[in-house]
Amino acid sequence: MSEHFRVHGGARLVGEVDVVGAKNSVLKLMAAALLAEGTTTITNCPEILDVPLMADVLRSLGCHVDIEGDVARITTPAELNHMANSEAMGKLRASVCVLGPLVGRCKRAVVALPGGDAIGSRPLDMHQNGLRKLGATSEIEHGCVVAEAEGLHGAQIWLDFPSVGATENILMAAVLAKGTTIIDNAAREPEIVDICVMLQQMGAQIEGAGTSTLTVHGVDALHPTEHRVIGDRIVGATWGFAAAITQGDIRVRGVNPHHVDLVLEKLRMAGAEVTLFEGGDDEGFRVVMNGRPKAVDFVTLPYPGFATDNQPFAITLSAVSEGTSMITENLFESRFRFIEEMIRLGADARTDGHHAVVRGVEKLSSAPVWASDIRAGAGLVLAGLVADGETEVYEIFHIERGYPGFVENLRKLGANVERVSS
Ligand code: UD1
Repeated sequence: MSEHFRVHGGARLVGEVDVVGAKNSVLKLMAAALLAEGTTTITNCPEILDVPLMADVLRSLGCHVDIEGDVARITTPAELNHMANSEAMGKLRASVCVLGPLVGRCKRAVVALPGGDAIGSRPLDMHQNGLRKLGATSEIEHGCVVAEAEGLHGAQIWLDFPSVGATENILMAAVLAKGTTIIDNAAREPEIVDICVMLQQMGAQIEGAGTSTLTVHGVDALHPTEHRVIGDRIVGATWGFAAAITQGDIRVRGVNPHHVDLVLEKLRMAGAEVTLFEGGDDEGFRVVMNGRPKAVDFVTLPYPGFATDNQPFAITLSAVSEGTSMITENLFESRFRFIEEMIRLGADARTDGHHAVVRGVEKLSSAPVWASDIRAGAGLVLAGLVADGETEVYEIFHIERGYPGFVENLRKLGANVERVSS
């Protein structure tokens, strides 16, 4: 029997919440462990379904993976299996990140096309073109990416778009290539910096992490390391938006506030009082919203632009703000499917191509709604908190892929949310 969330409207969220390691970082760091023989330890791992799924992918390649609480220990053998086509591959997008390390270490890889959120077409052309520049062949055969190389060599690579996944795969292949690789128009997301830091600890020579030009001087071999995953900026932003949407007061701990600078600026523009806590164990921010938020516009772009993953929360905020907001989605065309569910909840919204216009209403109205991906699911729960009556949110397994202890955290903040059997 499946379960869904029943969200009772009318809560003002108040209190503190801890954010754990970033989903979009930990899965790539786990893949990076393939690059060094021996045991790599990753700490601050979030307890979400994707972590054991990624562990299954690594086990199918010959690794021994042990997960205890928030610590993952990955023991990589001298000889890896180069075929990644386990059942787990189809369940998460990040599984494609084993491609670069496998080509780097085994000089060949057969990697099943990944699954993950249905947020729009997610081609792999830039991943493949990058590997080709490094001297590998790369074709799609029978649902798998097949890549082979006699030996990888450094190259100058220009990405058409600063793709997160392509940057990661090319980077993880280039660290063991002969010579120097330059990746231009590289992604600058904090998760890219996190992976660069871990690779550097493993002995990789990388310059320019966090800028759009990454320079990689290939080395012969890497060694295992211990690394702590950065806090999840998307989960942190979710709680920031939750405070603004419910006219609440939330102190978020465990995330670098500068990873959400633009989110916090937008929340200030909407009328929130924002305090930053920089460095140390207390790192994070506090968002206090007194009174109804004011409408602001949002445009999704690669980092440091406004993250596409936060777009559903921007729409939920706009739906209850005073005034009209324009939201522009530049990355994933299907993310606006979320708006259909918001309209069910009484939002006054319409889309035209990759723009959405949302006219704020005072209160939403409860209805049964269906989550289509992780962030859309979390956005619907936040919308339910400011809807009249009881909102039933279905397909919550999506939410649980990205938010450890979501219901528990919501309850701690004063929300009336239950997990019920469907
Ligand atoms: C990652 C994140 C996802 C986030 C996204 C953008 C993970 C597991 N997922 O996804 O949550 O929303 O970054 O910040 O880390 N593209 C191509 N060809 C390619 C690769 C990408 O056309 O070879 C396009 C995509 O269709 C998309 C854009 O580039 O329009 C950005 O995608 P990308 O940055 O690669 O996202 P992911 O790494 O898949």
